[in-house]
Amino acid sequence: MEKRKMILDCDTGHDDAIALMLAAKHPDIDLLGVTVVAGNQTLDKTLPNTLHVCQHLGIEVPVYGGMDRPMVRDQVVAADVHGKSGLDGPVFGELTRKAEEKHAVSYLIDTLMASDGDITLVPVGPLTNIAMAMRLEPRIIPKIREIVLMGGAVNLGNTTPSAEFNIFVDPEAAHVVYSSGVKVTMMGLDLTNTALADIHIIERMEAIGNKAGKLFGDIMRFTLRSQAVNGLTAGPVHDVTAVAYLVAPEIYVTKDCHAEIDLSKGPSYGRTVCDINDRFHLPKNVTVGLSIDLDKFWDIVEDTLRRYE
Ligand code: BDR
Ligand code: CA
Repeated sequence: MEKRKMILDCDTGHDDAIALMLAAKHPDIDLLGVTVVAGNQTLDKTLPNTLHVCQHLGIEVPVYGGMDRPMVRDQVVAADVHGKSGLDGPVFGELTRKAEEKHAVSYLIDTLMASDGDITLVPVGPLTNIAMAMRLEPRIIPKIREIVLMGGAVNLGNTTPSAEFNIFVDPEAAHVVYSSGVKVTMMGLDLTNTALADIHIIERMEAIGNKAGKLFGDIMRFTLRSQAVNGLTAGPVHDVTAVAYLVAPEIYVTKDCHAEIDLSKGPSYGRTVCDINDRFHLPKNVTVGLSIDLDKFWDIVEDTLRRYE
């Protein structure tokens, strides 16, 4: 199987860190670069968090800092879920690993323009970097093979009753991406809230006995407590489901539908309105993940973590 070329766009974050671990080591993925955005915390935290994970596990992929705030709205972070640092829990050594000089948006544009149209973008944070790249250089749009993102929900949100965090943080950016014409596959809360790293999963990954298994535990043990704000008993690895889709789409149940972002400034601001029952009879621009075979999913995660030294 030819490796799937991808760029991970993240706001590291607990589940982002695990998504990075999967993307960097899965044998069927060619991780070209990692672009970082503000989201779970401010960029001055999400960027070092990303570099810490790379340094700790010897991940040599280039890392680029991107947008430090949403396109239009005021900034929102998720300190209640991810802590003051954005990645509370693990203790890392002194950071020597550096980000690339180039801005993430310039990296996205240059890389996509030079490509053969075979790169998939996997954004697992607010969509600011991707939307800015599309606005600055619209010729990248037909160059993107697919966007497989974590964000949104068919049903309830987790930040407001209507909106999921990544979309709520930058609804205008999400609108740019969802209406771009690129094939968007969306892993929303309906699916991702089922991928819970409970204590059994944590102990299973720790039992691998390598640095990656230990880091999984140090990261996800923190979320056993912090996710209570959403009424959950353990931390979902939301972002990991977007990366795993690239290598095992057959373990997902999906449905194509029309989806758009609510940009009205009321209680539904940032809602992903998914016309699952096709009431609007509009073009189906999004493939929505509805459920996932969790046994197979955790096998993929475990097999990949075993590949680390
Ligand atoms: C999303 O928001 C962040 O807190 C997580 O990293 C994930 O990308 C879930 O709503
Ligand atoms: Ca994230």
